[in-house]
Amino acid sequence: MDDKLQVRPMVDAKNGQVTPEIYTDEAIYQLELERVFGRSWLFLAHESLIPKAGDFFTTFMGEDPVVVVRQKDGSVEAYLNQCRHRGMRLCHADSGNTKAFTCAYHGWAFGLDGGLTSVPLEEEAYRNKLDKSRWGLTRVPRITLYKGLVFGNWDANAPALEDYMGDMAWYLDGFLDRREGGTEVVGGIHKWTIECNWKLAAEQFCSDQYHAPYTHASAVQVLQASPANKADGKPLGEGQTPRPVWADALGGVQFSGNGHGSAFFFTEKPDANVWVDGEVSSYFRDTYPEAEQRLGKVRALRLAGHNTLFPTLSWLNGTQTLRIWHPKGPNKIEVWAFCICDRDAPVEVKDALIRSHARAFGPAGFLEQDDSENWVEVQKVLRGYKARQAEFCIQMGMGFEERRQDGIPGLTNYTFAETAARGFYQHWANMMSAENWSEINDLSAADQQEGV
Ligand code: FES
Ligand SMILES: [Fe+2]
Repeated sequence: MDDKLQVRPMVDAKNGQVTPEIYTDEAIYQLELERVFGRSWLFLAHESLIPKAGDFFTTFMGEDPVVVVRQKDGSVEAYLNQCRHRGMRLCHADSGNTKAFTCAYHGWAFGLDGGLTSVPLEEEAYRNKLDKSRWGLTRVPRITLYKGLVFGNWDANAPALEDYMGDMAWYLDGFLDRREGGTEVVGGIHKWTIECNWKLAAEQFCSDQYHAPYTHASAVQVLQASPANKADGKPLGEGQTPRPVWADALGGVQFSGNGHGSAFFFTEKPDANVWVDGEVSSYFRDTYPEAEQRLGKVRALRLAGHNTLFPTLSWLNGTQTLRIWHPKGPNKIEVWAFCICDRDAPVEVKDALIRSHARAFGPAGFLEQDDSENWVEVQKVLRGYKARQAEFCIQMGMGFEERRQDGIPGLTNYTFAETAARGFYQHWANMMSAENWSEINDLSAADQQEGV
């Protein structure tokens, strides 16, 4: 496939449009697995899931299954979860602790370091001629830990993770670095499938605040009208009109850079985006001084921010959901949602956050359901032939991008804009058409000059 001719014109960020085929085409999807998921930094695990030597966690890089393993020296490695003998899935558990991984097919066993350590009937069947050093697990060559998150990259020539994140690290720190002790995953991991292309979910979290007043209108009204809502310290009185969170916001910002994006409002209320039990609200108020001291006022008071680190890691401040959109074909994703909590928070707060996370962003969460219904319907409509012909519009705020002087980094716009969507798709198109990271970087530099 001559992808330079076929893929790049499908995204026209300068004129604010994309071709719907990017959400449906099988050949494009196969190229994504190679060029996007085979070369991007991908979230693998939170360190709190594998604290001890021998702890492992199985996940995916694109569609490739991998197992993330804590080593005896405390470092972290990841391997393709595939036996080198005849390709069987090696580890079937979601997570656990082990001394070795033994294949269920013929019994080859691999150590924590990925080396092949034991082969049944090695003497009789292989006459001791098998060079075991050749048949270790396929190792993910680049692993980097960042504030509790484990990232992996298949491409030895990819930039360092911090360069890849660029200005997005400033936004990610606002989620991971509120308190001295860092964060941990609390509760289980929710996993479910949605019949939509991965870019619909990732791009929305990167850019689309515009949907919130409409898509979530009823959910927000019910939530704010509830006597249980004590986000401002007091339940709403009789006759009081529920106000959407953005109504009291002090403006907002959308950020775009390297395909990543963030969109958020400002508030003066440290707990304004918590939307949960009083005990969690008071925790956010009580710990605000530490957060402000670590992050500064702008980040400590961020409201209703949602974010995507390209391609598939998204999070929402306050409601504390961190999720990865694992692609499962062009028309399907598997969501893995983690509840992230400050490690130093009291256990009652952790318990309350687990409940509130499930209520808002679990598989049946009242906000989650609103979002996924939109994506599923978009994808269903795209089954039609005509529905795949006309471009989609991503022109909001075009030409009004700015670089701010107040310390908020990157290319920015008003929170209701599609600046980050344009950046997301432009970066996607660059990755899909470039032969290597050096070409990707050249294309990105040219885009930045042109303000895309
Ligand atoms: S496929 Fe794993 S031991 Fe044969
Ligand atoms: Fe939403």
